[in-house]
Amino acid sequence: MPQDSRKIVLDIRAISKTYQMGHGMVSALKHIDLQVLKGESIAIMGPSGSGKSTLMHLLGCLDKPSTGTYCLNGQNIAELDDNALSLIRATQIGFVFQSFNLIAQLNVIENVEIPFLYRNDKKKNPRECSINAIQRVGLGHRLYHLPSQLSGGEMQRVAIARALAIDPLLILADEPTGNLDFETGESILKLFQELNSQGVTLMMITHDESVGKHCQRLIRMRDGKIVSEEKK
Ligand SMILES: Nc1ncnc2c1ncn2[C@@H]1O[C@H](COP(=O)(O)OP(=O)(O)OP(=O)(O)O)[C@@H](O)[C@H]1O
Ligand SMILES: [Mg+2]
Repeated sequence: MPQDSRKIVLDIRAISKTYQMGHGMVSALKHIDLQVLKGESIAIMGPSGSGKSTLMHLLGCLDKPSTGTYCLNGQNIAELDDNALSLIRATQIGFVFQSFNLIAQLNVIENVEIPFLYRNDKKKNPRECSINAIQRVGLGHRLYHLPSQLSGGEMQRVAIARALAIDPLLILADEPTGNLDFETGESILKLFQELNSQGVTLMMITHDESVGKHCQRLIRMRDGKIVSEEKK
């Protein structure tokens, strides 16, 4: 299928983000344009302070841009109130963070079920969806382990299963290999690549140059702007 006939999942136009700091302003993002098609995998790289996390927060509907428009699956985010934004986060976006963000007292299945607490979808059985996602990340034999009983790579797999379980429009990952040794990080990147080949749309922020080879598009940022893009 020609690439441009695929559906646009995420469409940002001329987005800027400015933070007020005392009497001054910090311009974290400057006039960013980005379109992401269903099924793409994108790595975003850039030096510290270049605006990667700020961009991810906007894409994840955790914050709104100062100017510009952001449409997620055709819906203009600026028009939504906080409740509607929470619902979008819970139903359409899977988040994966550097620090895994698992709840220590909950076992693997219970951690993966968390996003279902925020949604009221009678058609989906949380337990079934969660076990299915845990199996997809290769942890079917660890369902009842607590996070403290897992390795770092396994904890990140649980976090990825939690992101997957809701069958999101896209997965956003901020430095997903940042707390892992090289080999474990590579296995997580391979898992992302495998999920992407199954149709999962993926955006990943990283400092890790080797990530580029696992993604279809590599976008580099500097000083709040997109400065280059490589496509495979
Ligand atoms: N809440 C905030 N208030 C004020 N300034 C902020 C805020 N968040 C980020 N900034 C500033 O915006 C710029 C971009 O920050 P951001 O966290 O997006 O960078 P980054 O590319 O993710 O960096 P890193 O690789 O270190 O995580 C930085 O100059 C930062 O100081
Ligand atoms: Mg960051």
